[in-house]
Amino acid sequence: MKVHVVFYSMYGHVWRLAEAVAEGAREVPGAAVKLFQVAELAPPDVLEKSGAKAARAAFAHVPLAAVEDLAAADAILFGTPTRFGNMCAQMRNFLDQTGPLWMKGALVGKVGGVFTSTASQHGGQETTITSFHSTLLHQGMVIVGVPYAEQRLLNMEEISGGTPYGASTITKGDGSRLPSPNELAIARFQGRHTAQIAARLAAK
Ligand SMILES: Cc1cc2nc3c(=O)[nH]c(=O)nc-3n(C[C@H](O)[C@H](O)[C@H](O)COP(=O)(O)O)c2cc1C
Repeated sequence: MKVHVVFYSMYGHVWRLAEAVAEGAREVPGAAVKLFQVAELAPPDVLEKSGAKAARAAFAHVPLAAVEDLAAADAILFGTPTRFGNMCAQMRNFLDQTGPLWMKGALVGKVGGVFTSTASQHGGQETTITSFHSTLLHQGMVIVGVPYAEQRLLNMEEISGGTPYGASTITKGDGSRLPSPNELAIARFQGRHTAQIAARLAAK
């Protein structure tokens, strides 16, 4: 049972969530879990000036995703930072190359989920995840989120990301906040829960 975690990250927050999602998925017996990142589109000088070039070096070892990597998986978990309440252009560009998969119905019945990151607490995590779900539904995927069985969604003792639609983190405007233990645990839950459902479907 193959679980592929496909993400884009500019400063490393979504990458950290992706690692936690993958860790959770690996807890499920029989799950073969792989991480992929989608191709960068921003010009090199923009990346350099914003500090993203240095940040992206930390996860440069993660291989680039090809659309065939989606077709090969039983479950796919997508990670994207929020851009104006939506997924980032890099992820959109990658998904827009999946037309041939859509025509063949290659993703129909596969399990899918989304996780995200915003700078601010109310910066559009839910809109990013739920608008991403439209693409998964067009592809015929079975969407899995994070049920409240994960009680950390109800943690009011601290500021925390984490939604029933998918795991999330909050970075602060300057990107200085890293995913918290609460957020990483929710991300691990999402990976584990999604892989468990994919395992059940694969068994039928
Ligand atoms: C063009 C642009 C648009 C953004 N739009 C939002 C937004 O709508 N809401 C928000 O809270 N953060 C927004 N951000 C901040 C990013 O979501 C944040 O940098 C990202 O979550 C960090 O994740 P990463 O380290 O994985 O790149 C935006 C950033 C950029 C560059």
